[in-house]
Amino acid sequence: MAVAAKIAPSMLSSDFANLASEADRMLRSGADWLHMDIMDGHFVPNLTIGAPVIASLRKHTKGYLDCHLMVTNPLDYVEPFGKAGASGFTFHVEVSKDNWQELVHQIKAKGMRPGVALKPGTPIEEVYSLLQGEHRVEMVLVMTVEPGFGGQKFMSEMMNKVRTLREKFPTLDIEVDGGLGPSTIDDASRAGANCIVAGSSVFGAADPAEVISLLRKSVVEAQKCS
Ligand code: DX5
Ligand code: ZN
Repeated sequence: MAVAAKIAPSMLSSDFANLASEADRMLRSGADWLHMDIMDGHFVPNLTIGAPVIASLRKHTKGYLDCHLMVTNPLDYVEPFGKAGASGFTFHVEVSKDNWQELVHQIKAKGMRPGVALKPGTPIEEVYSLLQGEHRVEMVLVMTVEPGFGGQKFMSEMMNKVRTLREKFPTLDIEVDGGLGPSTIDDASRAGANCIVAGSSVFGAADPAEVISLLRKSVVEAQKCS
């Protein structure tokens, strides 16, 4: 059975001063999820938004808030993000080797969906244990740029990770993040990615709906051929 395509515009490329209307614009343009990039200025050299902004946005949208936590201490963020109304909580494996089971348990207890992300330099094998047992994650986010900034070049060599993961886990949500757009999407969808984050390519487009629909079509077509 094919895993559903989820197109998730990265709000990092939106106009933060108008976050609610930008979120609405994306959902009206066909977005499935809203990707929220949380950066602590420590795990990555950039600082973005935290739980108070998620809570404010939640008052204006019912959309699925796909939160990607690029932070050194994800456990500290679980409770505030749960309260704020986050939908998905994706933490990085590089900082969670010792406490991922506790993290997953807490994330689910707060009503969020757990996911794990990995940086380009992290081998895919590092997430295997997180996909087994009672406290397993429900999504893997394969970074296709170094985390920290939007608008970087897609690293197609990361598609080996996606292919390996898809072979082992046919029904898993596999998300790709960084440099996705009309010229790179086929590479990712053929490798087996079904959740597509796209920031600059969607927000920079004259017609975001057209780009979102093109991304979705690529995932759906690639699944038909697999
Ligand atoms: C990078 C973020 C991405 C970023 C993607 O650290 O995790 O979500 O916003 O932006 P684009 O699509 O412009 O590469
Ligand atoms: Zn992200």
